Amino acid sequence: MARKFFVGGNFKANGSIKSIQGILDNLNNAKLDPNTGMLPLPAPVVISPPSIFLLTTAEKASNGIKVAAQNVFDKPDGAWTGELTVKMLTEHNIEWVILGHSERRTIIKESSEFVADKTKAALDGGLSVILCIGETLEEREAGKTVDVCCSQLQAVVDKVSDWSKIVIAYEPVWAIGTGKVATTEQAQEAHEAIRKWLASKLSQGVADGTRILYGGSVNEKNSGELAKQPDIDGFLVGGASLKPAFVDIINANL
Ligand code: G3P
Repeated sequence: MARKFFVGGNFKANGSIKSIQGILDNLNNAKLDPNTGMLPLPAPVVISPPSIFLLTTAEKASNGIKVAAQNVFDKPDGAWTGELTVKMLTEHNIEWVILGHSERRTIIKESSEFVADKTKAALDGGLSVILCIGETLEEREAGKTVDVCCSQLQAVVDKVSDWSKIVIAYEPVWAIGTGKVATTEQAQEAHEAIRKWLASKLSQGVADGTRILYGGSVNEKNSGELAKQPDIDGFLVGGASLKPAFVDIINANL
């Protein structure tokens, strides 16, 4: 099955009114690869600013660009100080949410169970989800990469049966923000194992149809080789998504 190339930009806790406007000016006027996008969800590029910039980004983004929140709560409106609910995002035309990012799993201590509850709530409320998984260097060196990633996915499998609006982002923690990008072999091996696991746990159709993005020190120099790997369907980009060369990463599959 031909999976269309897909790129996400995770701005993390970075940006100002001026810098976000500069990014939007660059992306809104860029020639983006017409072959990117997702079936059934036409989303060539999804950018994810800090929540305070979500509304202005959703209002100003064009050129087919969609917007993601970097988190959402698993319950509807209520006494949850500091949280955003699914309905608050959907009523402001925010169509995507990134969940399970390793920085929230390690810094905010979000469990895989909580990530799964958030994923179910997001999907039930009409959002599409970029679901992040990935192992630490210690886990990789102990040969536990696949076990860790599939355990993180199992928590979601236990609660979610429709995977048509989930994009998986495999982000080895040891490659995030370090400049130590995974080799094409390391990335392809992990993606292939994840896809095989999806086939065994869900179905070959889900395995074939689910996009698996690579994230972790992707830039315009390494994205071309990574994009050639059969089980790498795109990228979730951090630091490099804040720079003009992000357009080159989006077009890496050309
Ligand atoms: O979510 C993407 C992010 O974790 C990757 O960060 O800066 O290594 O591209 P970076």
